[in-house]
Amino acid sequence: MTLLKGKKVLLGITGGIAAYKSIELVRLLKKAEAHVQVVLTKGALAFVTPMTLQAVSGLPVRTSLLDPEAEAGMGHIELAKWADVILIAPASADFIARQTAGMADDLLTTLCLATESPVLIAPAMNQAMWKHPATQTNLRTLLERKVHTIGPDSGAQACGDVGYGRMSEPLDIYNYLNNFLSPSKELQPLAGQHWVITAGPTMEAIDPVRFISNHSSGKMGYTLADAAAKLGAKVTLISGPVSLTAPDNTHKIDILSALDMLAACKNVSQKSPIDVFIGAAAVADFRVEEVATQKMKKQKDTDDMQLNLVKNPDIIANVVSESMAKFVVGFAAETQNVIAYAQEKLAKKGLDLIVANDVSRKDIGFNQDQNEVTVVGKDTTWSPDKADKTQLADLLVNFIMQYKN
Ligand code: C5P
Repeated sequence: MTLLKGKKVLLGITGGIAAYKSIELVRLLKKAEAHVQVVLTKGALAFVTPMTLQAVSGLPVRTSLLDPEAEAGMGHIELAKWADVILIAPASADFIARQTAGMADDLLTTLCLATESPVLIAPAMNQAMWKHPATQTNLRTLLERKVHTIGPDSGAQACGDVGYGRMSEPLDIYNYLNNFLSPSKELQPLAGQHWVITAGPTMEAIDPVRFISNHSSGKMGYTLADAAAKLGAKVTLISGPVSLTAPDNTHKIDILSALDMLAACKNVSQKSPIDVFIGAAAVADFRVEEVATQKMKKQKDTDDMQLNLVKNPDIIANVVSESMAKFVVGFAAETQNVIAYAQEKLAKKGLDLIVANDVSRKDIGFNQDQNEVTVVGKDTTWSPDKADKTQLADLLVNFIMQYKN
């Protein structure tokens, strides 16, 4: 069933060889009985003609912001309001940069600024341009502004290079848009995915009344669980002892020690394959080698006591090495050299992403409502502004959702 019937799609085409594929995209949209208004940038005119796109879309193509005749028909603000969705395919590196900068120096950038409807972009460019930090930083910014990215695909490029940067196939873009417009999918893009999130401290017993633990409140893990569940994921929260209630629509497993947490992770992964694993728990690095079965008593003649500690298993490293999850995200709480240590941990534990924060700061992190983090991946770093943990959790879940695709 197509949800595109009667939908008003504003299709922006920017300058790139992939522009020729957009003719097919218009055909698919029209076949689904969508109304398609095409806008070409100056760059696009070098690759496709307004005449062709008018023929397939059935509407005069718009190319200029300052065209009195076209503006008399439907002014650009009116056009921005007309669109149920703006789809830009292909979106060139240059267009993405101008969109990120909030430019309004041509019709398409102006429409992106003036619209209150969702904006989806299908990037297409040379693989080196795609990988360039400038492009990646622009995409992160657009992501924060809730612009959706479709693709790009990897493969042979028109320039002879091989890598990421090919525009997604028209049918894939069409299917993405169709899915996106489904009311349930729009709100639930993680439907069908299983996310497992560890949260809180672990509690390592010394004897029946004493333990070793840490200050983790569990807030970050719980807000992440909430954010993922709200987007439709099936969420398992494996939590150490905290004073928080499990978010709606999540399944909570309570544990105390690191060994319990590892066993719970294994158990969960065997029952239901894990798409995304986020280790937000502050797992104790050591546990007492032999837990006393009775309360330990003060010794009359000694002023000190020795506890022999042994290393706990690294849970997240086990999740990676035993392939318990398809995509694994860790947290790195550091007090110095935050990014460098995070990069080291990313590689050592074999993670896909690591979220690093500076726990020496009193205003963020442990037990605080706010956090400021840097997300580090093999070829990416992203530092959203300091924000409430709930807001940050939404951003992180969105980031993970898009990054892992
Ligand atoms: O090594 P460090 O504790 O700094 O690494 C932090 C990341 O590793 C976090 O994601 C944490 O949940 C995870 N971790 C773990 N098991 C441990 C120690 C840390 O899963 N024993």
